[in-house]
Amino acid sequence: HHDLVPVITIDGPTASGKGTLASTLAASLGYHFLDSGSLYRVAALASLRQGVADTDGPGIAALISKLRLRFDGPRLFLDGEEVSDQLRREDVGSRASKISALGDVRAALYALQVSFRRPPGLVADGRDMGTVIFPDAALKVFLTASPATRAERRHKQLISKGISSNIDDLRADLEARDARDRTRAIAPLQPAEDALLLDNSAQTVDESVAQVLGWWEQRTPFG
Ligand code: DC
Repeated sequence: HHDLVPVITIDGPTASGKGTLASTLAASLGYHFLDSGSLYRVAALASLRQGVADTDGPGIAALISKLRLRFDGPRLFLDGEEVSDQLRREDVGSRASKISALGDVRAALYALQVSFRRPPGLVADGRDMGTVIFPDAALKVFLTASPATRAERRHKQLISKGISSNIDDLRADLEARDARDRTRAIAPLQPAEDALLLDNSAQTVDESVAQVLGWWEQRTPFG
């Protein structure tokens, strides 16, 4: 039964390093990996393409039920076309944030997310992995970093892609997105009651990975 398949959830705000931490953990444990944000992003991209309004929950939910998706490691294909790069677009990200506040959209993505739970295990990252999608997860981590640190990381990421940006604007943007994700009525960004908090502001990726693997070994002493 799928409930016996162990799940580790990594939730946290934008640019906290969830994706890097979660995918590294998944690789090191040999587990499957779910980047749930990519599902909100692909729904956003599809709705842009089909001209469905970002306020039309039932319309976007109908569209989600017809999505033909294929995952190949970190690559995502929509109707046979690789869309991984397009999903990172700024307009797609901000539309994803908007439509993620719609209950119909969240409900339409529920079954798809749960279907990632397959042996031998799953590491899932997002905003509500530990609170809503996998409430029985064996280990829940809530990852944070200071706004300054996150803005700096995003800035470096953009520079490496040859995109110039203003660090103060980036920080204002991510604080605005955090506020929206935290205060929305449905599945707001908040730590699960049984989540372990990890602030990685002063940590390298390797240090965060080692910390979570350490927690995991304590949870599964006979595993
Ligand atoms: O993590 P990300 O930036 O790729 O996520 C894009 C948007 O999707 C983000 O603004 C909030 C939303 N999201 C969500 O509401 N719940 C999740 N589990 C993952 C993402």
